[in-house]
Amino acid sequence: MNKQTIRDISWEGKRALVRVDFNVPLDANGHITDDTRIRAALPTIRYLLEHGASVVLMSHLGRPKKKVVESMRLRPVAERLFELLPEATEVHKTEVCSGPAAEAAAGSLKPSQVLLLENTRFDPREEDNDLAMAQELAKLGDVYVNDAFGSAHRAHASTEGVARYLPAVAGFLMEAELNALYGALEKPQPPFVTIIGGAKISDKIGVIENLLNRVDALLIGGGMANTFLLAQGYKLGDSLVEQGSVATAHDLIGKARASGIKFMLPSDVVIADAFSADAQRQVVSVDAIPDGWRVLDIGPATGEAYSAEVKGAKTVIWNGPMGVFEMEPFAVGTRAIAQAMAAASDAGAMTIIGGGDSVAAVEQADLSEKMSHISTGGGASLELLEGRELPGVVALNDK
Ligand code: 3PG
Repeated sequence: MNKQTIRDISWEGKRALVRVDFNVPLDANGHITDDTRIRAALPTIRYLLEHGASVVLMSHLGRPKKKVVESMRLRPVAERLFELLPEATEVHKTEVCSGPAAEAAAGSLKPSQVLLLENTRFDPREEDNDLAMAQELAKLGDVYVNDAFGSAHRAHASTEGVARYLPAVAGFLMEAELNALYGALEKPQPPFVTIIGGAKISDKIGVIENLLNRVDALLIGGGMANTFLLAQGYKLGDSLVEQGSVATAHDLIGKARASGIKFMLPSDVVIADAFSADAQRQVVSVDAIPDGWRVLDIGPATGEAYSAEVKGAKTVIWNGPMGVFEMEPFAVGTRAIAQAMAAASDAGAMTIIGGGDSVAAVEQADLSEKMSHISTGGGASLELLEGRELPGVVALNDK
C-alpha cells in the first residue's frame, strides 16, 4: 500500500481523530447483533493509546437522512466499545459530532482517553462533503486516521473532506483491507479464481468486467446465474430473472470467451415449487427446469465442479451466495463453496471474502477462522473490485 499509516506518525501527546465504520446491525430493541466492525477497529485504537495518543472516534450509523433519528444514536456502540476497551481510562460520548461542544470535549481529553462523537450523518453537511463541516471536524484532532474501510467509497466530510485539513493516514484495518484486496487484484498468485453470486447481475456488472482480464476462472452462482442461463437460451420457469439485463449477460459471456478465461455457469440447479423452506424441491439439469418451478440453489454437480476449481486455486475471491442460503434446504451450494475455500486456505491459498452476504454465509458455516481475509466492507469492497478509486483512500497522504 502506498499510503502512510499510523506507524508513520509519532503519537506521544497527540490527539488522533479516527474515522471508524461502526455501522453495526441493531435489533428492534437497539441491541447490537454483530459487533465485528467494532472489534475490527480495536487494533488501531489500542496502538494509538499505547503510543501516548488520545483518541476521538467518529462514525455514521444507518441512513438517518440528514437529521437526528433517536434509534440511530451511537449509545449502544459506546457501551459495547467500553466493554471491549477496558484499558482506555475513559470512553466519553458527546451528543454532537462537531462544533463547540465537540471541540470542548475533545480538548479536555487526556492521553489514553477515548471520545466517541455522535452519528456523523445527523449533521446534514456530512454526506454533501461540506468543507465547513470538514474544517470543524479537523479542529478535533492533530492527525486524521481513516480506519473505516466500509465507508471508503463515500466522499463525505468525515471520510474525505477532513483529510484536506490534517495529516491523513490509514489505520490497521484500512491497511489490511487494501493489502488483501489490491494484493489479490494486482499481484495474484495463479491460478486466480473468483466466485460471484447474489441476486442481480446489475449489481455486479462492473466487478465481472474488471475481473475478466485478471482471473483464470470466474464462477457464477446465485440468482444472477439465472439471467446468464436465460441469455444462453435456457428456460428458467418461475425463477428470478432480470429481463433488462439479458443483453448485458450475453455481452459478458462474449467478453469472457474472448478473454480466454474459464467462465463457468451452473450445469444443474436445485429448484422449488415455491419460495419457501418447506417447498417441494428437486435437482435438475439447467435444460430441464419445468414451468412453475424456480431455481433457488446451484446443484450438486455444479457445487462439485466449482469446489474443484476453488481447491486448485492459489488466490480466491468470493462475493455473493450461490443460492437462498438463509433457508437451510437451499444453503448447500453456498456451504460447498465455503468448505472449498477453507480447504484452499489449508493448502496455502490466499482466500478472500469480499464482504456482504458471503460473510454471513461463511459465518453460518462456522468457517470464518479459516479465511485469509474477510472484508468488513460491502459496498466499498464491491467498488474496489470494480476497479474504482475509493475517495476515502485517495485522500490519505502518500508514503
Ligand atoms: C456499509 O455498511 O456498507 C457502510 O457502513 C456504508 O454504509 P452506507 O451504504 O449507508 O454508506
